Amino acid sequence: MECLEIKPSKNLKGIIEISGAKNSALPNIAATILTDQPVILNNIPDLLDVRYMISLLKSIGSNIEKINENSWAFSLKEPITLEANYEIVEKMRASILVLGSMLSRFGEAKVALPGGCPIGLRPIDLHLKALEKMGVKITKEHGFIVARGKPKGAHIIFDKITVTGTENIMMAAVLAKGETVIENAALEPEVVDLAILLQKMGADISWDWRNKSRTIRIRGVKKLKGTVHNIIPDRIEAGTFVVLSALTNANVILKNYPYELLTYVHYVLKNIGINVVQIDKNSVIVKRRNELKPAYIETKEYPYFPTDLQAQFMTLLSVVDGLSIVKENIFENRFLHVPELNRLGAKIEVSNNKVAVIDGVKKLTGAEVKATDLRASAAMVIAGLIAEGKTIIHDIYHLDRGYENIDTKLKMVGAEIERKRITQPKVKTN
Ligand code: UD1
Repeated sequence: MECLEIKPSKNLKGIIEISGAKNSALPNIAATILTDQPVILNNIPDLLDVRYMISLLKSIGSNIEKINENSWAFSLKEPITLEANYEIVEKMRASILVLGSMLSRFGEAKVALPGGCPIGLRPIDLHLKALEKMGVKITKEHGFIVARGKPKGAHIIFDKITVTGTENIMMAAVLAKGETVIENAALEPEVVDLAILLQKMGADISWDWRNKSRTIRIRGVKKLKGTVHNIIPDRIEAGTFVVLSALTNANVILKNYPYELLTYVHYVLKNIGINVVQIDKNSVIVKRRNELKPAYIETKEYPYFPTDLQAQFMTLLSVVDGLSIVKENIFENRFLHVPELNRLGAKIEVSNNKVAVIDGVKKLTGAEVKATDLRASAAMVIAGLIAEGKTIIHDIYHLDRGYENIDTKLKMVGAEIERKRITQPKVKTN
């Protein structure tokens, strides 16, 4: 077991490079199943979730070669199995993304049903309903989704916007017979990145995502080919470092920063008193007013405020004088970080697991806390860097799922953060 020990860190200075996006790397790796030719993906972040996805593809029979730290070549000539077992799916829900690509190319797939998730129910009913509409026969057997039949073109209208659902159906459609129209599709930049990779592989996809259209038209083709693709930078990691820079008054250049993917977040930040200033096309620095202002934030699908930045902004608002409100609209249980922030001295009250009222305090004070989910763990790191005294964060495997070398990146700019081995967890997780 490992934990992070953090001390208050001021005068951070230097450069932090934003890594490739986890939520883009995962579907893009799944998409490599769609062809028998090599696909090279660059800018893949070195994360636990990416390693799980790579081992899942290896278990299917993909030949995977590491070209350098962040570039990999994938090629699947003949599958050994078309099964994604529970051991992997349980560790990472995004494993469900191989369902669409395996079905599309081979006409069958068996994927373990994902179990519970701390932040919400996260059913996959919309993925399955859409596949059934495409003529795929789906049964649930012994904890597995068993899907049979090559998908055929169909008109899919998602009842709710779903990111991985849109990605799965896009991959199911690219080799399907006929035309598929997806309506009410997710517009997240990571979904667009997948569409761009698929187009490079020869898929016939028409989508006016630049004008925020939620309709995607896909004409199935017979075969896809290999290509080379660069994964987009991680807008959530970028947003996390902006909040961190503002709160620690850092003089840090954020490189490889996806400025245009964070327009709405910049608007929210500006109202609070934080400006993200471009110093060149790919780099920014963060400037803040001395007095920050409280805010009302609601999470909503892209292009609006991402649920994946909600916890980090909660840390920010917990030390802004006045009353702030945060409303979570995407997941039913995404306030697990609130009791942990309150342990650090924040004053946050949650009603109906939907709305949090934050009464800004002057300072946070260090304590032992746990990382309750991926993004919540980043909120704890930010809190630890500004809290008085020492903060110890347990269960940091959550952090390693989604943030590439976060402690190393922070140390390089002068943060007092140490990864330590512990023999027994100090905070109970039952
Ligand atoms: C993806 C992201 C995750 C992000 C989330 C919302 C990846 C790997 N993960 O997760 O980081 O927090 O988008 O931006 O890209 N829903 C259903 N039925 C379904 C599918 C979804 O009811 O079949 C509901 C979910 O429970 C949730 C909402 O729809 O309340 C949005 O979920 P979805 O967009 O599917 O999230 P993920 O794709 O799992």
